[in-house]
Amino acid sequence: MKKIIIAIDGFSSTGKSTLAKQLAKQLGYVYVDTGAMYRAVAFFAMQHHYVSEDHLDKNKLVDSLPDLHLHFEFNPELGFAEMFLNGKNVETEIRTLEVSRLVSKVAEISEVRSKLVEQQQQMGKHKAIVMDGRDIGTVVFPNAELKIFMTASPETRAQRRYDELVEKGQRVTFQDVLQNVNERDYIDTHREDSPLVKASDAIEVDNSVLTKKEQFQLVLNLVNDKVMA
Ligand code: DC
Repeated sequence: MKKIIIAIDGFSSTGKSTLAKQLAKQLGYVYVDTGAMYRAVAFFAMQHHYVSEDHLDKNKLVDSLPDLHLHFEFNPELGFAEMFLNGKNVETEIRTLEVSRLVSKVAEISEVRSKLVEQQQQMGKHKAIVMDGRDIGTVVFPNAELKIFMTASPETRAQRRYDELVEKGQRVTFQDVLQNVNERDYIDTHREDSPLVKASDAIEVDNSVLTKKEQFQLVLNLVNDKVMA
């Protein structure tokens, strides 16, 4: 069977990672969550006080990029890879609402994007990979064999993110989460470098009308068409 690259792009909290993880497991492929990489850079910038709600020291962050090392390590208990920043597992730290608020500022910086895109392209060298993000089908792997673009209404997505955060014990309000979803949508689609757009050859999947099971089956059928071709 042919090994392929599966690119999954879309707005935040559209269920990209759930679908990508399911596919990777089913196919024995590697799953890469590129949002985790941008989140880790934002966390690094927060730790060094290069970024906060009202300031961003772009030059200092760019100058320190050579000191920033990211890697994934597969956790067999969880069934997916966790994000490491300079040798430390930062899975918990990168999923806070604070990081979600600041990450778009960092993801706008071209030097940050080119560093991460290069690393992502290396990870896909041998194919057999499912990668999710915003620019996978347009910038990272424009020749990916299968491109999926996921959508869902902002309210559906905010509810999902709110439930996740509350389950993790974080104190947030639904309104704050909805506002964050709307702000990130705006920034993701309006930034100059690699804005979120649907690649012309991507297949759109609306996650608010399909159940998880239906969605998985639909995409699995698309994968089968490609690997058999
Ligand atoms: O998928 P996520 O919500 O974890 O992504 C976190 C942020 O990173 C999001 O605001 C957009 C940005 N991002 C990006 O610009 N490009 C990617 N390939 C992945 C994420």
